[in-house]
Amino acid sequence: MATLWHGRFEDGPAEALQALNDSLPFDRRMFREDIAGSRAHVAMLARVGLISDADAAAIASALDTTEAELADGSFDFAASDEDIHTAVERRVTELAGAAGARLHTGRSRNDQVATDVRLWTKRELLEIAALVGRFQATLAARADEAGDAYLPGYTHLQQAQPVLLAHHLMAHGWALARDVERLLDTIGRTDVSPLGAGALAGSSLPLDPDGVAADLGFSARFQNSLDAVSDRDFVAEALFVLALLGVHLSRLGEEIVLWSTDEFGFVGLDDAFSTGSSMLPQKKNPDIAEIARGKAGRLIGNLAGLLATLKGLPLAYDKDLQEDKEPLFDTCDTVRLTLLAMDGLVSTLQMKTDRMAEAADNPFGAAIDLAELLVLAGLPFREAHAVVGGHVRAALAGEVPFADLVAADERLGPEAAALLEPGAAVRRRTTPGGAGPEPVAVQREQFAQMLASQLERLALLS
Ligand code: ARG
Repeated sequence: MATLWHGRFEDGPAEALQALNDSLPFDRRMFREDIAGSRAHVAMLARVGLISDADAAAIASALDTTEAELADGSFDFAASDEDIHTAVERRVTELAGAAGARLHTGRSRNDQVATDVRLWTKRELLEIAALVGRFQATLAARADEAGDAYLPGYTHLQQAQPVLLAHHLMAHGWALARDVERLLDTIGRTDVSPLGAGALAGSSLPLDPDGVAADLGFSARFQNSLDAVSDRDFVAEALFVLALLGVHLSRLGEEIVLWSTDEFGFVGLDDAFSTGSSMLPQKKNPDIAEIARGKAGRLIGNLAGLLATLKGLPLAYDKDLQEDKEPLFDTCDTVRLTLLAMDGLVSTLQMKTDRMAEAADNPFGAAIDLAELLVLAGLPFREAHAVVGGHVRAALAGEVPFADLVAADERLGPEAAALLEPGAAVRRRTTPGGAGPEPVAVQREQFAQMLASQLERLALLS
């Protein structure tokens, strides 16, 4: 079996070496990027006069054929194809004859693979950002639909103060907005061409790294050839940004799990986005939300694994770097699927707003409003807190209902009783960014503007 590097070797590779060494099973999915990189490289070689136009044309046409074969599945892989780069070069050489042997001039698989992974990651992150945008739009639509519906807000998972449902939904939306910003940032740092760095040191040939960078749609070329072939920061960043996005989906998933229980009863799950039990006929399970929660662990594992791979690597390229691709592909695939399923789940959730209001209309939800009423009358907050806390304690002890204690307390005055009316407390959350109808109306506008700006920036990049 003839490898690309057989010249220096007397013996062929052992089976065990090949099985461990080959990355073709997973890196073949970068074939389009590999071919794009080769096209730009060959065009550059011709431009600077390192190969003839005729050879460049023969190689370009062989690259077209190779790409078509890889796309339609008719490509015949050989046992010696250890990765997508060797597979493509071998085929091009078969198709283009003598010209094919000039394809790898001035290039190493080290700068080639870094180029491919950057091209792949740029496109993929952009597509994922668009899917996040879609999900944000779903949250915004559900928030609009929710109108002035409200539910209990929680701290420590104990009922705290009522909040508008729209406010709660948009809270998840803002977290996703930061994810999109981080994706855009990461795309920016991914957008640098390593092609022309060679194995590690550049070349004696008159290559044009700026030209290939521009040709491939990169915003810049590398500054340092050692860094260019050994840098996988962009992969680690992508894995972090997507793991954090996964953590956000997981937190939302956890709430949907809770909200869909009989005990909460805040949401109903659509048939198409929930599952049944093989044994218990009455069950409807929130599997998507649970899987979103579960997948976050895997995304964090992919990030931790890559960081561990990178931490001990001396400059420049080391074969350990081949371990960058599987976690990257797995994370991207996982996040895409989770986003789509969560989008479906959230867009079809049945919001049980009567039940939410009932849970939120616990009179203790207005305890802070009563204390603040005393503050407005001049009482120091700590004393006001103690007065209302005393009524809560007495009511919980079962002596007199909270409302009666409040009505009977002259310090609280005549306005106090109205604060305990259903829905009153949430309407009093009037400060900027707060949970009541007034600030939420402003927030809806700001959320829509933010979304439009993100979509615009994504469109400019695609
Ligand atoms: N399959 C390799 C990878 O994914 C390509 C680079 C191989 N370079 C080398 N010097 N053997 O990293």
